[in-house]
Amino acid sequence: MTAEPPALFSREFASDPYPAYAWLREHAPVHRTTLPSGVEAWLVTRYADARQALADPRLSKNPTRHASDKTGIPGERSAGLMTHLLNIDPPDHTRLRRLVSKAFTPRTVAEFAPRVQELTDRLIDGFAARGEADLIHEFAFPLPIYAICDLLGVPAEDQDDFRDWAGMMIHHGKGPRGGVARSVKKMRAYLAELIHRKRDAPGDDLISGLIRASDHGEHLTENEAAAMAFILLFAGFETTVNLIGNGVYQLLRHPAEKDRLAAAPELLPPAVEELLRYDGPVELATWRFATAPLEIGGEHIPAGDPVLVVLAAADRDPARFTDPDTLDLTRRDNQHLGYGHGIHYCLGAPLARLEGQTAIGTLLRRVPDLRLAADPAELRWRGGLIMRGLRTLPVEFTPRESTPS
Ligand code: HEM
Repeated sequence: MTAEPPALFSREFASDPYPAYAWLREHAPVHRTTLPSGVEAWLVTRYADARQALADPRLSKNPTRHASDKTGIPGERSAGLMTHLLNIDPPDHTRLRRLVSKAFTPRTVAEFAPRVQELTDRLIDGFAARGEADLIHEFAFPLPIYAICDLLGVPAEDQDDFRDWAGMMIHHGKGPRGGVARSVKKMRAYLAELIHRKRDAPGDDLISGLIRASDHGEHLTENEAAAMAFILLFAGFETTVNLIGNGVYQLLRHPAEKDRLAAAPELLPPAVEELLRYDGPVELATWRFATAPLEIGGEHIPAGDPVLVVLAAADRDPARFTDPDTLDLTRRDNQHLGYGHGIHYCLGAPLARLEGQTAIGTLLRRVPDLRLAADPAELRWRGGLIMRGLRTLPVEFTPRESTPS
């Protein structure tokens, strides 16, 4: 190998990490690096290795035995909300996932479609007459939080509190230091109280469903139900913000593809999958830890080492995708890893697809001449290791009436 590895995790890298990932895939496909936090971890960048690693039972998701403060994953000390699906292994994972799957079914999501449409239209009504908007603040950010609050059964009058806490948790709001920890604390207290209330007076919402769900006579404890509600919120929020934000951004950068989609809305399902592959919300899958010495792509990983699967690199692997750097909304055989793979495959994928298709489809229909109102080089991306998303997405368009056509 002659060239040096590219600089990872710089500001330039954040705005376009794909050339650096192409270099790694080619020259150092399983690469040990020092993360900005100081932790050493392995990055897995090729599609075949990534898919295998995501399904490898020797890679544990349980941070309590491995995590240091530097991983940013709270360890044993903050058990409670953190003992959720993405931090546990079988057999606990199998039991909890089976229980939640009973309450959160594709049917639950399908029945929710009119509500998502209503929310989408209401948010577009908020800026349609103005001729300009920031699509992150006014559209991509509020839609998923209100959607998930409705689905969980958070009463309307409490949803703005949730919006503030969630904003703080993705560093979206401007707040004092320690604001994130305080927001998690408030959310924990609120969820515990809400679960208590729903136990006495159940409704037809997801929290009541989680309390009711039973499998071979087993139920979720109140703590498990709270952790489950929290992970649904946490895993389903920033991801969907980024799906809408990155998706609309890439359509605006590829006007021919955008016009093609606007003219043929039946392309929405494959188009959203392609946007997920091309510039997906989750850049790196969540932390995994080697429980035994193992080999990935010819590299020996010692027991105990953290492994990060780079979904954004795997989904641009030319060994798996034809012309991987081309956005092709009609791409066939698009088995991207944007929702992960294996037992931790995204539980919320049907809801994410519904929200992504509704948001992007409705926006193109109601605001067809949407244009980017900033130089792409000036746009700022949120920091953070796992997620990839814009801080703002300024757009302009011909002002139009608020009522949907
Ligand atoms: C897991 C992506 C939306 C709930 C995952 C994983 C990925 C992912 C990559 C696996 C992480 C890993 O293995 O390290 C996405 C994307 C979304 C999205 C790209 C939006 C476009 C949602 C929504 C919900 C949700 C809307 C729920 C409301 C979950 C849960 C898990 C998960 C609960 C953990 C599953 C388990 O460990 O068994 N998601 N997600 N996600 N996602 Fe999503």
